[in-house]
Amino acid sequence: HEEFTKVKNIAKIELGRYEIDTWYFSPFPPEYNDCPKLFFCEFCLNFMKRKEQLQRHMRKCDLKHPPGDEIYRSGTLSMFEVTFYSNKALAQWQVDGKKNKVYGQNLCYLAKLFLDHKTLYYDVDLFLFYVLCECDDRGCHMVGYFSKVKFAMLLFSIIYELMMLLHEKHSEESYNLACILTLPPYQRKGYGKFLIAFSYELSKKEGKVGTPERPLSDLGLLSYRGYWTRVLLEILKKHKSNISIKELSDMTAIKADDILSTLQSLDLIQYRKGQHVICADPKVLDRHLKAAGRGGLEVDVSKLIWTPYK
Ligand code: COA
Ligand code: NA
Repeated sequence: HEEFTKVKNIAKIELGRYEIDTWYFSPFPPEYNDCPKLFFCEFCLNFMKRKEQLQRHMRKCDLKHPPGDEIYRSGTLSMFEVTFYSNKALAQWQVDGKKNKVYGQNLCYLAKLFLDHKTLYYDVDLFLFYVLCECDDRGCHMVGYFSKVKFAMLLFSIIYELMMLLHEKHSEESYNLACILTLPPYQRKGYGKFLIAFSYELSKKEGKVGTPERPLSDLGLLSYRGYWTRVLLEILKKHKSNISIKELSDMTAIKADDILSTLQSLDLIQYRKGQHVICADPKVLDRHLKAAGRGGLEVDVSKLIWTPYK
């Protein structure tokens, strides 16, 4: 889309105690296009042209964390779920989600500064944002987030279920992540893998197999490859006996295609008698695990309080 290949408009942002150089164009309303730097409220994500406006705003803004429900807390890390419905759904069911909607829009403007492509959705009914924060006595400071979308809930889910039935699929599979971002000051500290792990934990609770939407950015693919490699090889190391891709998928909520491509890229798959067979020599596994980098921050599932959307 033409609009999304435009040259960078905003060079810097201020967010909490950070000044951050931006990476890409973001379609801010035209009146913001002449400012080299934007000032964001780190809690409600409203953005302003001048520092004095932000200071005035901060005296009034009573948010100290993202709007929505805190669904995870472990140590200083908290995850907030912010949901809102599209205009269409709002009109249809008259749900009130204005506050979350403004927050979600602000988050998209902010995120686009670090994403060079972003899918535009037309038929989405429900937007879900999972915002990860580091909390201290001043409030909950956003580290990163990932988003999910639900398509035309009523009609789509009926057709979807029918399709699943016709294809005799037993476990539902679906996209479990649309966009993912770790803010630059927090990158390379394991938060990305934490967000990815979290998206799979939600899929497990839903009893679904999940996969991220494509295309993935280079950094996105690197992070996913690292996560998939570590999770799969750690299971293969423990299971001395043969294990199938289907079993791996059931245990991890990772889609079978993603498992196959990960193991193939590590040269751990052989094709015997018309079947994919995993070859898991412990020495080879250890070598790949070392190469896969650090494990990232762990998601403590016992700290996740969440029931799936139906
Ligand atoms: N150079 C090389 N490898 C990198 C990298 C970089 N700048 N950034 C991440 N990686 C790779 C590494 O393998 C890293 O693991 P390691 O640190 O153990 O070696 C792995 O990705 C994940 O690192 P992690 O610290 O868990 O991720 P992160 O918090 O830095 O977040 C992204 C990863 C993708 C969310 C982040 O880079 C980002 O927000 N990018 C911009 C938005 C984007 O591209 N999103 C994906 C769209 S599909
Ligand atoms: Na996207």
